[in-house]
Amino acid sequence: MTPAAIPPLAFGTGTSWSTAVDAPLDAALVTAIMTALHTGFRHLDGAESYNNERELGAAVAAAAAEGVMREEVFVTTKLWPTVSDAPGTFARSLTRLGVSYVDLYLLHCPFFTPSTHGVSVRDVWTSLESLHTSGAARQIGVSNFNTPQLRSLLGYARVRPAVNQVELHPYCCDEELLRYCAQEGVAVAGYSPLAPLVRFRGGPLDAVLERVAGEHAKTQAQVLLKWVRQRGALVVATTGKEDRMREVLEVEGDWELTEEEVKEITSVGRKHRRRAFWKKEYAEADAAVEAEMGKET
Ligand SMILES: NC(=O)c1ccc[n+]([C@@H]2O[C@H](COP(=O)([O-])OP(=O)(O)OC[C@H]3O[C@@H](n4cnc5c(N)ncnc54)[C@H](OP(=O)(O)O)[C@@H]3O)[C@@H](O)[C@H]2O)c1
Repeated sequence: MTPAAIPPLAFGTGTSWSTAVDAPLDAALVTAIMTALHTGFRHLDGAESYNNERELGAAVAAAAAEGVMREEVFVTTKLWPTVSDAPGTFARSLTRLGVSYVDLYLLHCPFFTPSTHGVSVRDVWTSLESLHTSGAARQIGVSNFNTPQLRSLLGYARVRPAVNQVELHPYCCDEELLRYCAQEGVAVAGYSPLAPLVRFRGGPLDAVLERVAGEHAKTQAQVLLKWVRQRGALVVATTGKEDRMREVLEVEGDWELTEEEVKEITSVGRKHRRRAFWKKEYAEADAAVEAEMGKET
């Protein structure tokens, strides 16, 4: 079966929506996902570790009852932390989601070894390949892999990852990884695209975003989202507000940042590197990049 095209704008159910194991069903999240579907999102991004796959499934079922059928919604979920039992974890995700297949199943991170979790990344990838062969994971991919980690996986993969989902905004942009993914045909999905606006306000991009947004009569959030799209990546973003959902969706409209604007945002962001997620795990790799950049200046 030809894999479904991946809708470029995913509605995220992690970060502020994540909850504790066994928390009661979050009706606000079900409503937010339904609103996202009503406004036009067709890609939902979930994960085992967000502890809210039931909410995602409830919204998909409710949407189907209203006529937005399961096949029209691209459902992504991710494996972590129970990597030692990928088939069991995947089966439990399907049950919670109330679906017979997911469109994309991601290995959430590469930060484990046989001594920490009883399995290697290679063992887990082999399990994901079997889930793909069974048809229950229509596409498989990874998340938070840097270039060496992805190169290693591509060295043994029989099924290549369709996607690498990574933090991507001007303050956190791994140019080498973008190039390598493009070369290898692995789509990049960028999460936390709005970080310069909502997490790292006060940085050197503030003035640039304000000016560029004004020039295009768009919001600063839309400029950041467009930057991610023009860097060749899919977007994974979230909000609880319907007007902001529309703002995200309008990014696919008929407008573009100029090449100079993309370059300016990239180069200003590059000098003020910030990462919001998996900081400890990335510390060594980030320090090496900083050292390289130090040599350049
Ligand atoms: N693979 C991974 O390891 C990983 C890690 C992190 C995240 N993710 C995925 O990526 C998704 C998005 O991550 P994120 O929440 O960090 O990303 P984000 O979309 O960059 O940021 C979301 C925040 O931005 C605010 N916001 C949304 N639209 C806005 C606008 N137009 N103007 C100003 N603020 C706006 C939202 O607040 P309001 O709700 O108040 O609008 C929310 O607090 C997660 O839900 C998850 O699915 C994956």
